[in-house]
Amino acid sequence: MKRYKQGNFNLVYFMKEKPTVSVIIPTYNEKENIPILIKKLETVLSKYTYEILIVDDNSPDLTWETAEKLAEKNPRIRVMRRISERGLSSAVVSGMSAASGDYFAVMDADLQHDEAILPSMIEEMRKGGCDICVGSRTVSGGGYGEWSKIRLFMSKAATLLTRIMLPVPVNDPMSGYFIITRKLFHQSAEKINPRGFKILMEFIGRNPGIKVKETGFTFRTRQYGETKLSGSVIRNFLISLYDIRFGKFISYQFLLYALVGSTGVFVNLGGFFLGEMMGLPVIHTGMLGNLDPLYFSVLFGIEISILSNYILNNFITFYEYRHKGKSMISGFFFFQLISIVGLLVQTGVFLLFQNNGFFTDLIADEALRKIFNNLLGIIAATATNYFLNVNITWKQR
Ligand code: GDD
Ligand code: MN
Repeated sequence: MKRYKQGNFNLVYFMKEKPTVSVIIPTYNEKENIPILIKKLETVLSKYTYEILIVDDNSPDLTWETAEKLAEKNPRIRVMRRISERGLSSAVVSGMSAASGDYFAVMDADLQHDEAILPSMIEEMRKGGCDICVGSRTVSGGGYGEWSKIRLFMSKAATLLTRIMLPVPVNDPMSGYFIITRKLFHQSAEKINPRGFKILMEFIGRNPGIKVKETGFTFRTRQYGETKLSGSVIRNFLISLYDIRFGKFISYQFLLYALVGSTGVFVNLGGFFLGEMMGLPVIHTGMLGNLDPLYFSVLFGIEISILSNYILNNFITFYEYRHKGKSMISGFFFFQLISIVGLLVQTGVFLLFQNNGFFTDLIADEALRKIFNNLLGIIAATATNYFLNVNITWKQR
């Protein structure tokens, strides 16, 4: 047996044995917890060939350094220090893509997941007959431990919603503690979207025919460090849920974009009234033919709604991309230009259909036909604007 190098990557050469289970532990600022957890895992997993992958997102408290020290002592431990990526779910996926066991277990580093049930979960997997085994708080033997009323309520509400929406019945789909077969991971790797915290829900939701088993455990209270749960976790959860169920029909991004757009209608009207109250002038340009006189209040309403649409889209529709690439100001410049293109498309389509007498056989009534043609203009403009904004204003690198 040849030992290549101390520490991380000697595992495969040194053990000469494929691990049964790879335990993947995402960490962010868990330097006090990780040594305690590793010690517990070493005891609990002693009868298995295992590997432990600690996936740290370059924690400011240097968790990865603490983890590397542990890896020097135990060659079954590997550390991934991710520099330019952040996020619990994406850390789990990174860990899994580098893991070599037959089963991939995921657990939190903060000791809230009871390691004592890990062997029975592994046995459940080895018996065959299931693709995922969930460490569950809502089956017999399980519990939430000391949770605040508000968080308990949120978790229960989310669980109920998920149970209704997901194709496979699972009691605790919100759990972050589970084992999945290597095979299922590689089958679904391209389908899943690792945003936010709820990676288990992705695996279950994107794989309708799978078998899931659950083992109860009581969620412990965190002793060191703090939770990274934030408002964006809720947002990402709702988006994932929608995406899993309806994403094939209409992308969540377009849905949010259209919702923001419809709020713009009201902002637009509000701006118009505000303009009227401010007494913005009506100008006769004498050049614009049919458009003359020019209502400044109308322009004011339009501009205000462009601004509010831009802000809302930044914080709602394109939340993930807002800090990548352009600054807020240059983003607005493109958004503004694209809005003008949209205006031209809408009027263009309307005039084209109207002036050439399109749909006269279909809709005899003149007034109704105008509305219909304008509606087609609006649809064309929305589609053009969306396409341009996705590819220019909020381009994903
Ligand atoms: N690499 C990495 N990157 N790890 C992260 C990140 C990140 O951005 N954010 C959190 N983690 C790690 C933490 O260090 C911890 O080990 C684990 O992920 C869970 O994070 P917590 O911040 O402790 O989450 P929680 O306790 O509020 O939520 C847990 O319980 C929920 C049950 O309702 C998680 O297991 C959730 O997935 C679970 O849904
Ligand atoms: Mn936690």
